Amino acid sequence: MNIISIRSQFPSLELKSNDQPTIFFDNAAGTQVARQSIDRLTQYFLSSNANTGGVFETSLRSDELIETCRQKVADFLGVKDRQEVAFGPNMTTLTQAFARAFGRSCKEGDEIITTSLEHEANISPWLGLAKERGVKVRFVDINLEDMTINLDSLRRQLSNRTRLVAVGYASNAFGTVNPVREVAELAHSVGALCFVDAVHYSPHGLIDVKELGCDVLVYSVYKAFGPHLGVIWGRREIMEGLETFHLRTVKNIIPDKFEVGTQNHEGIAGALGSIEYLETLPKLLGKPENASPNNSLPLAMNGIREYEKTISERLLEVFAKYSKIKVYGITDTKRLNERVPTFAINVEGYSAKEVAKKLAEKSINVWSGNYYALEPMTRLGIEEKGGAVRISLVHYNTFEEIDLLDKALNSL
Ligand SMILES: Cc1ncc(COP(=O)(O)O)c(C=O)c1O
Repeated sequence: MNIISIRSQFPSLELKSNDQPTIFFDNAAGTQVARQSIDRLTQYFLSSNANTGGVFETSLRSDELIETCRQKVADFLGVKDRQEVAFGPNMTTLTQAFARAFGRSCKEGDEIITTSLEHEANISPWLGLAKERGVKVRFVDINLEDMTINLDSLRRQLSNRTRLVAVGYASNAFGTVNPVREVAELAHSVGALCFVDAVHYSPHGLIDVKELGCDVLVYSVYKAFGPHLGVIWGRREIMEGLETFHLRTVKNIIPDKFEVGTQNHEGIAGALGSIEYLETLPKLLGKPENASPNNSLPLAMNGIREYEKTISERLLEVFAKYSKIKVYGITDTKRLNERVPTFAINVEGYSAKEVAKKLAEKSINVWSGNYYALEPMTRLGIEEKGGAVRISLVHYNTFEEIDLLDKALNSL
């Protein structure tokens, strides 16, 4: 894997903090943006900037570009029918919109199941339906020792009242990869839909909605090397059947009925660039011999996954050196398949924020607090103590950067 070439695709990795190269270990809050994405975004303003649906060239170019991007995002998610993909400001807004529309088909006594491992954006929209529609929201229990979801708890709570099961693909706090396929099968066994929050998994591995067998999936492009933009995919028959909150002037067809108001055209162009970057990755990962337009995304994402397992292993070795460091979540290096390199830790004697500040002084960007993973932090009993430090890496991070983190932790 050619890490130097990979890093050169991200101009902002050159940034310095305190006169030192910045170490971006804050990726779970948004990755740095690939050059192809920045170029696409800039190019949109230079050559196509217009509203959609006009008869003149810039508008026609905008229309075409948006559809090209929709196709590329469909490819990224393993979706055949690109009209099943809609854009929006971010995952939270799209999930709220989906939940409200879905709520119109719910009646009192219906149940929605989410899990205690979720980001709040996969909880609050469903709780909103409890208030508005009398829907009961149930929570799948988590195993606190490794921050995994408890499938028996899900099985116990499923019933013919269940309308939807909402689950994250990967935890944005602890890096756990959830058994989404199994969750989808369980949801379907009682006739419920499976809604997947793939925001945190999107920069780390291949998403294939056919493989997952889910019904609706959301992700955010800014977590996967592109600009601030959200994406929702849903099976045609489900999305067509929903009564959304669109304007009278918008046709009641997909994707239009989900894309309320003028879209972020430049962001959509940037999303195209972010996936074009990923398609170049097999070459940079040293797998050009097998690469073809049809399999470049699987090769790229599987290559990322393999590399990231090695950085997870190294990070776990570093944390294990320090008795005062507590890692929440999977720490067994034989279980790296079940996690991505996102780690929530605490250091005895320091608050999470203090650690984040100390690392920032060493030019290492990390997050502290709950990062909207309020429910699992509360379940762990650390919410009121200030949560945990989150160290989250992606494929452009290096072993050298981990060595510098090790040194910084050693100085605490
Ligand atoms: C797992 C997960 N779900 C949902 C969200 C919300 O995404 P957005 O910022 O696009 O609304 C985030 C953002 O941090 C996340 O990490």
